[in-house]
This record gives sequence, structure tokens and C-alpha cells, in this order.
Amino acid sequence: MTSQEIRNQFITFFQDKNHKFVRSAGVVPFDDPTLLFTNAGMNQFKGIFLETETAGHPRAVNSQKCIRVSGKHNDLEEVGRDTYHHTFFEMLGNWSFGDYYKTEAIQWAWELFTDVWKIPKDKLYATVYKDDDEAFELWETLTDIPRENILRFGNKDNFWEMGETGPCGPCSEIHVDIGGDPAIHGSHPELGVNTDSPRFMELWNLVFIQYFRDQSGELTELPNKHVDTGAGLERVVAYLQGKDSNYDTDLFTPILDEISSLSGIAYEPDEKGMAHRVIADHIRMLTFSISDGALPSNDGRGYVLRRILRRAARYGRNLGMNDAFLYKLVPTVVSVMGDAYPELNERVAFIQKVIKSEEDSFSQTLGRGLQIFSGIIKDTKAAGQTTLSGQDVFKLYDTFGFPVDLTSLMADEEGFDVDLEAFENLMKSQREKAREATQLKQTHTQDSQWEILNAGAHSEFLGYTHPKLDTSIAQVLKSDKNIDVILTQTPFYAESGGQVGDTGRIYNAKMELEVLDTRREGDSIVHATKLFSGEFNTDPVIAVIDSQRRKAIVRNHSATHLLNAALRKILGDHVKQAGSLVDATHLRFDFNHFEKMTPAEISEAERLVNAEIRENNFASIRNMSFDEAKTEGALAFFGEKYGDEVRTVKFGEYSHELCGGVHVQATGDIGFFRIESEAAIAAGVRRIEAVTGKVAEENARLERETINQLRHLLTSDVEDLGSKTQHLLDEKKALEKQVKVLSFDQAASILSDILGNSKSIGGVNVLSEIVEVPDTEALKDLGSELIRQMKSGLGVLGTVIEGSPYVVCVVSDDVIAQHKLKAGDIVRELGQKLGGGGGGKPQLATAGGKDAAALKTVIAGVFDLIGDRLG
Ligand code: SER
Repeated sequence: MTSQEIRNQFITFFQDKNHKFVRSAGVVPFDDPTLLFTNAGMNQFKGIFLETETAGHPRAVNSQKCIRVSGKHNDLEEVGRDTYHHTFFEMLGNWSFGDYYKTEAIQWAWELFTDVWKIPKDKLYATVYKDDDEAFELWETLTDIPRENILRFGNKDNFWEMGETGPCGPCSEIHVDIGGDPAIHGSHPELGVNTDSPRFMELWNLVFIQYFRDQSGELTELPNKHVDTGAGLERVVAYLQGKDSNYDTDLFTPILDEISSLSGIAYEPDEKGMAHRVIADHIRMLTFSISDGALPSNDGRGYVLRRILRRAARYGRNLGMNDAFLYKLVPTVVSVMGDAYPELNERVAFIQKVIKSEEDSFSQTLGRGLQIFSGIIKDTKAAGQTTLSGQDVFKLYDTFGFPVDLTSLMADEEGFDVDLEAFENLMKSQREKAREATQLKQTHTQDSQWEILNAGAHSEFLGYTHPKLDTSIAQVLKSDKNIDVILTQTPFYAESGGQVGDTGRIYNAKMELEVLDTRREGDSIVHATKLFSGEFNTDPVIAVIDSQRRKAIVRNHSATHLLNAALRKILGDHVKQAGSLVDATHLRFDFNHFEKMTPAEISEAERLVNAEIRENNFASIRNMSFDEAKTEGALAFFGEKYGDEVRTVKFGEYSHELCGGVHVQATGDIGFFRIESEAAIAAGVRRIEAVTGKVAEENARLERETINQLRHLLTSDVEDLGSKTQHLLDEKKALEKQVKVLSFDQAASILSDILGNSKSIGGVNVLSEIVEVPDTEALKDLGSELIRQMKSGLGVLGTVIEGSPYVVCVVSDDVIAQHKLKAGDIVRELGQKLGGGGGGKPQLATAGGKDAAALKTVIAGVFDLIGDRLG
């Protein structure tokens, strides 16, 4: 049986039991700030468990892309050392949303494992939570698992939580005895369960979700009980394919083969194969996370990618692969996984480009970093120590980009520890920064005390067609400052998909509420309002949006779609939306592209969008199935969560996207489109900011005013403005040069006045004077001229430029030779006295300082200073 067949059998098994198939969510969680990566199949259903969202169907089944490298669930250390932990893995799962509970969950798991997949019953072990007698009994009565194979465990093993906060509950796991040396646990094999014993592997976790853990750590009962199960596909496949290791299954062998062929080193399933395994694991994690919109960077999620990539790159070195190689593995990963996750196929080139550029930048420092590392190991050994200092670890991190876990791992291979505490102290400021970026916050829905006025349906959005509605308040949440309301029906669009929320008014005869913003919380559309006049009451209301603002927003939104299409035409199909924001004043569109756009490309994008505006195509908006939309070529944005039924927005044949936002009726409504800026915001991500409609017109008008002003000042036609300005600039440059010559001449004429002021000190002709010059260049020039005219001797000239004192010292070669007087030494002393410093050659040196008032004394003191030096 192939992995593909096993995945499908799981899904079909539960579909036959009336479960609805749900596509895997992206590994970058949608709208869940408590997680860096999707770490379990249940993440996308969190809102349903918390009852902020309603389930479309009471039962679901899927195969979820998961990453466990951070937070509560982190398997990184195990990867490659054992044969069944991964940074990226697929989780097969079935769910009940307040529907069936423990009975069916246990019964069906047993049926699939033993009836369908024929796993020998006596090899299976079921664990239950220590107090969960119910689950224990169900295993005993509903299944024919041997009685002694049902075991109880505590919180650590049998209470499952997704993170620090969130839905959670007791669980029941199914472990399998994979055989091996029977002597390992003697006649009590059950003693091996949950002990990291090589004989046992956990296959499936059935979680009985019934609590919510809040930020203070408190558990509260959820209104309903749910089932959340998860079985690691890679492990199930390994077991069913009769393999000792996940890496020996068809999910991994093509990748390992490719690594062997690139490195010329064959894979070995024992310790020697560690590098192959780590690379094979990490490249899957990188491919999926980049495909779902994450990018390597210096903090938060991006830093996790960077760490994983550097770890893999360094393992590549162990196999003699010193140049970028990881990117070459991407097509193999996609060929193994692309059928199950078709989104990968569209992004191969982009993923490769991101990985290659990150590998290249790391390899610039990797070689040198490894040398430094060897030096550190040697020094530490020589000093009789076994721990690398925090400073060394920090240096490797800071200068050579070695993530601390990479250094720890390398140190460990050499039999050394690292002083993590000292390292952490040094990292404090950087960490602060990273923490800000990944600050995990909690939505307030769970704790809020909404007052329910109308228990029926609410938050029906009618705003695609109605700017104004007669409606009623369904729920209200009052605080000192604000009144949040939820309406039965509303014309207000809640912020989503980059389009900002509507503002406007909700009123009746006795009050007027000003709507400041509209947001979505689960299934609810929440209007954040302020009492504008009257007294809050719950009589029927009229809700009306600020239509002018909405019109400006939708112009920008539709223009974003046209821009997306234009960029794909001009730059290529690799252009993918990486984020967007549309409000009433402008639009911001982030997209994947590696080069800066040329001015010609920017103009072309503007030209194409404006041409489409003039086409005045109607917005054709249709609901269809996700698969149908994809077949029709509609573009989906990976940062978005889509249901089965999607809304598509199409303008002529030009642009076709999945989108829930509000749009113009026809492109002509956009009026006019202008790109105002184009810049990089991260490696491989560029941002265009643009304006439409009135703002575009206003910006054009402002520019014309500026141009008219310039035309007036330069008495020029528009066409000649450039050449005339250039002419003026050239003229200015020439004049500046002339001024410099003149001021030098003027200064040089000073020389003739002061040359006579020199004194002979110990046989050396010494001159020290204050002069006026425009800048330090002129001071140096004057110094050179002075010594030329003095022929033999030593001169010091001082001046004040913009409030700061400067000196130049010049010495003739004969004086340097005979008297060992060097200009560099002298200015150093003078600079100190001026509260600064200086230096230079023996013939000419300069110094500057802060104390302009001291200049006079310093210049006068030169004679004594030379006298002292000459003894
Ligand atoms: N959420 C549970 C887990 O991740 C079961 O799916 O193990």
C-alpha cells in the first residue's frame, strides 16, 4: 500500500461514517496569534470548539500539514536521531463537533486499525487518562483489545493541549509494539509504553476536548464536548508498509535517494544516516512553510525557518556538500507530496529561489564560522573546560549566523556543552526584539460578557448590496469607553482579506452610535461604536455605512486585483500575493518577486491597470466550489482560509480571484490608478503602494502645481525642465569650484602677511597662526602651500569651522630628518588639547576638537611645545 492509498483510506473510512472532508489548513496559521505554526489538525477548528464559530458539518476528517518546531510541541531535537519524529508531518484526523464522543471515537479507531488495516490486536496498547474510567471501560467493553493492554497515565502523557492556552482535554492514545528484541521488556512489554522504548510507537491520539485553558492557566468547561483525533501519517505508513523507520517509506525514500545522488554518499539507516535524515526532514518543512507563505527572516516564524535551513545546510557539509544544494531537493519533495497538496506544484520555482538565496547568504559565512568553531573547541579543550562560553556562542550567532541550537548540536558532537545562560544574557536585547514580533496575544471573545438581547441568528452581512438597513441589536458589550454591538443584519463589512472594516452610524429616535470600526470575531460581526448622542437603548435601529469612504475603499480593492493581474503579466506567474491592505486612502500590495521593479515595469503596470479601468468591465461575482474556482484559474491567496464554497470576483477576462471583499460595479468606477512607490520589505517580497480615484487625481494635481511652480521659476516649458535644471546644477558646480579657488587665493595672500611671524626655535623655523578658511580641505591646501613657501621649517595653522576648531601641521623633510619632528605626533597633542584628536603623515597631519575657545591658546602654545620637544 502506498502512502497516498493509506491517506485516502483513512479519509474514505470516515467519509463513509458521514464525516465531511476538510482541506488541510496552511502551516502558517490563519488568524491565530497564539501559534507560530499549525501544530495539529484541530487548529483550524479551534473557533468551533470555543463556539465563536459554527461548524458547517458536525463531523470532519482531514489530513493536516503540521510543523512542530516551536512552542509547546517541539520535536526538533529528536529529528534524525530517531526514526519517527519530524519537524513537518501529516496528521490524519477525525472530528466531532459536539456530536459523537468517546464511544464512537474509540470504536472507529479500533475498527480502522484492526478490521481495515489488520493490525494484530495483541500488538496494540491503549492508554487512558488516569481518572478516565469511562474511556477505560469503553476500551474494555467495546473492543477486543487484551485487558492488560489498557493502561492509565497522568497529565504528561494523557492530557492534550495545543498550546499555553486553548481547547484541551484528556486523551486516549493507541501505541503499537513494533517488535524487536523481545528481551527488552521481558514478560511485561506494557512497561515500555510512553518510555521512549524502541519497541513502542504512538500511532493515534484520541482527544476528548472538553475544557478551555485561559491565560491564567485556569481550566473552564466548554459548553459542548468534542472529539479531536490525530494519527501521524508517516508512522502509520511505516507500520503498514512493514518498515522499521519512517524514512524507509515512500514518503521519504525518493528524497533520500536524491540526497545520496547529490552527495555521492549512500544513505544508511543507522547512526551514519543522521545527516541524510535531518536534511530529508528539514527540506519538507522548508518546502511546505515557504509554500504557505512563511519566509526566512531574523525574528519570529521567519527565524525558525532560518534556523532549520542553516541546520540542514550544515548537515550537508557533513556529506561534503559545500555549495547550495537544498533547493535542488524541492522538486523531489513536490513530486512526492504534490498530489495530496496541489498548492505545492504552483510554487516550486519560488520555493527554490527563496531557499537558494538563503543558502547562498549562509554559505558566505559558514566556512569561516566552522573554522572559528574549531578554534573555539581547541581553545576550550586547551583550557581544560568542557563548556563553550556564552561569548563564543554569541559570536558564532552574531557574526556567523549560527543559531544557538546549531552550535549546541555541533558542540555536542564534540562532547562539549554550551553556556546557554550566559548566551541568553547576551541575547537579551535581540530576544526582546524577537519577542515583540512574536508576541502571542489572546482574543478576548472567550472572556467577554456579551449581553444577549436576541438569541436567534445574527451578523447576516447584506452590505454587498445594501449601504443602509433597518435592523436590530442582537448582542451588546459595554465598557467605560466603547459599546460593541452585534446586529441581526448589517451593511457593515468587517475587516478581512486586507479590506478594512466599515465605519458609519447606527441610530434610532433616541440615540446615535458612531461606528468606529467593524471586525469579525468567529461568526460574529462586531461593530465598535461610541455613543454620539442620546442614551443607549435596544429599540430597532437603522444602520448606515459611510458610503463615500466605502466607495474609496472598494476602488482600491478592485484596483488591487487589477494590479495583481498586471504584475503577473509583466513579471511572470511566480508573482503571488503575499499580503494586502486596502483602505480609503490607498492600497498596499505585497507580492513575491526577487528583483527591484524597473521604472519601465512600474509604468507598464500603471498603464495596464488604467487600460483595464477604461475597459469598464463589470465585476462578475459568483459563488462556486473551491475546486471549480481553481479549475477556472481563479487566484487564491495562501494567507486566507477558504471554505468549500468560495466567492470569486472576475473583471472581464483580465482578473479572476477568490475574494470575499466588496468591489466596484465596473472597473471604470476606479477612475484613475497611480503607483506611488515600490520597495523591498523582505527577501523575495516587494511592496507596491498605489492610489486610485480622488486621491490619485489629487496627487496628480499636486504634482502639476509643483511643476508649474518650477516652470515659473526656471521660465521653462515642461519639456525643457529637466535640461534646464541639469544646466543649473552644472553651473552651480562650476561656481563652487571657482569660489574654492578664489578663497584659496585669498587665504594664500594671507600667507604673505603671516610668513614674517615665524620664530626660530632650536634652529627650526616655526610658524603658528590662526587663519580663516571655508572648510578643512582648504585648511590642508593652505598648509601645503605654507610649507612650500617656508621651504624649511614647521607650520601650524588653526581655524574654526561651524563652531569646531581644526588644525593642520606641516613639516619639511629636512626638519623631519634632522629634528625627528613629525606632523602626526604634533597634531595628536594639539587635538587632545582641543578636546578631540587627530593624526596623519610626518609631513602633513590634521586634528579637530570640540573646544573652539581653546584654539587661541593652543596655537600660541605651539612654540613652547616645539621648544620642549627639541629639549
Ligand atoms: N490534537 C491531538 C494531537 O495533536 C489529536 O489530534 O495529538
